[in-house]
Amino acid sequence: MSEKKAYTQAFQTGKYDKATGLLGKYDNVRRFWEDQVTAIFLRPALNDLVARKKKRLERMRILDVGCGSGDGYDLIMGVTTKHPGICDYIVNAVSDDMLKEYVGIDLNENLIQQALEYYGDNPKLRFETTDISQGMLPGFLDEEPPFDLYFTSFGTLSHFTSEQCIKIIADILRHAPEHALFMGDWLGRYTFEWQDLWHHPADQEYFMDYRISYIYPEEERATADVADFPLKLVCRQEIEAIIESASQEAGVAIKPLVYFDRSIFIGRHLDTGDYNKNCPKLRGPVNALFETYVRTDLENLLVDYVPRPGFEHLNNFFESFFMSCNTLVKYTMSLLGDYDCDTGKLECIPDILPSYPKPLQEAMETMRRVIEGVGWLKWGDVRANLIESVLGFALRKLEMELQPGTGMGHGLVGIFEIKK
Ligand SMILES: C[S@@+](CC[C@H](N)C(=O)[O-])C[C@H]1O[C@@H](n2cnc3c(N)ncnc32)[C@H](O)[C@@H]1O
Repeated sequence: MSEKKAYTQAFQTGKYDKATGLLGKYDNVRRFWEDQVTAIFLRPALNDLVARKKKRLERMRILDVGCGSGDGYDLIMGVTTKHPGICDYIVNAVSDDMLKEYVGIDLNENLIQQALEYYGDNPKLRFETTDISQGMLPGFLDEEPPFDLYFTSFGTLSHFTSEQCIKIIADILRHAPEHALFMGDWLGRYTFEWQDLWHHPADQEYFMDYRISYIYPEEERATADVADFPLKLVCRQEIEAIIESASQEAGVAIKPLVYFDRSIFIGRHLDTGDYNKNCPKLRGPVNALFETYVRTDLENLLVDYVPRPGFEHLNNFFESFFMSCNTLVKYTMSLLGDYDCDTGKLECIPDILPSYPKPLQEAMETMRRVIEGVGWLKWGDVRANLIESVLGFALRKLEMELQPGTGMGHGLVGIFEIKK
């Protein structure tokens, strides 16, 4: 009977489940697209911060506000100093020895408990259950030495009204040392996913009823008892106003380094259609692009954009954005169709027009070179395992380079420098 007990034990840990990147919170898109995009935008500021700390012979202290199960730790520690060349060693911006302490705080004790299960053995990590809705001073920050990076991720600041956000950020500014970074992460107002909500006036706060319905398989979504909760949608001007007020309240200067829209093409709610029934289900096929030994039907990546009348500037952006993505996908489909595996040659190469945006031209050219370079490989399903993941990264590149940083994606993120 010891076998039975051993297998039951293994099963109960949950770690015996089939590994898949096709579903769930940590699907392929979260790991290979959303976390990576955030890391790439954070890279320059983090490099500078670490260089300054090294000059002063000091190590980094990081605060992750709304840390959930400690997701920010892996994201921040995974930021590399540069895009590594094929022979380079990967060097992380914050090496283990440069980290003095990472502190994660969250309202939800179950998530803090999970964070402790994942990271509890690491003496440099500390987690605390804390409610920051009334700010962090007086309170949590009184007991803490200054942090070098005040970090939030994946929509955490959307849990709060503008007034609460101003207080939270003003407390961070008061608490910060003479030089620090702050990353603020909200939900964007104008993502295609919630086109039904676009009409709410931008000069008034708006909270959507958010449902985490996407974690259920499609067939269970209609019947699942999914709780909803309010999350604030913002555009760039709203963040600018919050930052300006927080700066005035604390009497501390804070400068934006970059704003970026994250997840325009692959937002979680594209697949549920909860807030726009015309959404194509793109996250599933993009997860499949990154999954080894799974071939994706590339037709499922094509978007037939349905505009919402009366919102021309938004419609124009999405028309042109999705036309670029479609052009890249169709070009890839055409190359795959015209590739001769025996000769290793493309029989026909469609034109890349000079009128296309530069990021699109580069992405198309990359797909051609990759297909020509590896298409002849006879083992390891070169399409599923190599070509499709490059297409995933090419679409990610398009999104990163075409996004305006104004609220067009699931997430709208600002990275700021605090200077006293
Ligand atoms: C969108 S999740 C982000 C979680 C995590 N940072 C990630 O990257 O997945 C927002 C987090 O903010 C936390 N939160 C919401 N309200 C809070 C509050 N008043 N004080 C502290 N944390 C809060 C939630 O419990 C949740 O874990």
